[in-house]
Amino acid sequence: MRRAGVLTISDRCAAGEAEDVSGRVLEEALRQAGYEITRRAVLPDERMLIATWLREACDSCDLVLTTGGTGFAPRDVTPEATRDVIERDAPGVAELLRLEGLKKTPFAALSRGVAGIRGRTLIINLPGSPRAALEGIEALLPLLPHALDLIQGQTATHPSQGGTQ
Ligand code: MTE
Repeated sequence: MRRAGVLTISDRCAAGEAEDVSGRVLEEALRQAGYEITRRAVLPDERMLIATWLREACDSCDLVLTTGGTGFAPRDVTPEATRDVIERDAPGVAELLRLEGLKKTPFAALSRGVAGIRGRTLIINLPGSPRAALEGIEALLPLLPHALDLIQGQTATHPSQGGTQ
C-alpha cells in the first residue's frame, strides 16, 4: 500500500480559528483510492516549519500533498518551502493542476503551487480551498500510480502504450 502524507498550511487552521476542511478532503480521497495516510499535520504559513515537516515526511511517505499557502499573499510561502526541499522539479504536475483548475475558474492562475521529487517521494502543492483541493486530487489520482512507480525505479508497463518502456 502506498504511504501518503497530507499537510494543511493555514495560519487560521493552525490557530484553531478555522476548520481544516481541505485536509480532510484530501485524506478521504486518498484513503478511498487505497493510500495509507502515514503523516498528517496542520501548520501555520511559516517557511522553516513547512520545510522541516516536509523533509521528515519524505522519510516515511511515497507521496506528500500540501494544501494552502500557494497564493500571492505575503504569508503564502508553501512553494518556497517546497523548493527548499525538492531535489528534482516536476513542473508538468503543477501545470496539470492549473490547467484543470482553469477549466473551472480563472482564479486557478493565482496558485503558485509547485511539485517535485525528494528522494523517493513526490511532493505536490494544492491550493487551499476545499473545492480546489478536491478538483486537484481528482486530476492527480489517475496519474499517481505510474508517477510513483517511476520514482521507485519500477519498470512498470507504460499506461498509455500497453507495452514496456
Ligand atoms: N484552483 C481551483 N481548481 N479552484 C479554485 O477555486 N482558487 C484559486 C487558486 N486555485 C482555486 C484554485 C485562488 S482564489 C487562489 S488565491 C489560489 O488558488 C491560491 O490559494 P491558496 O493561497 O489557498 O493556496
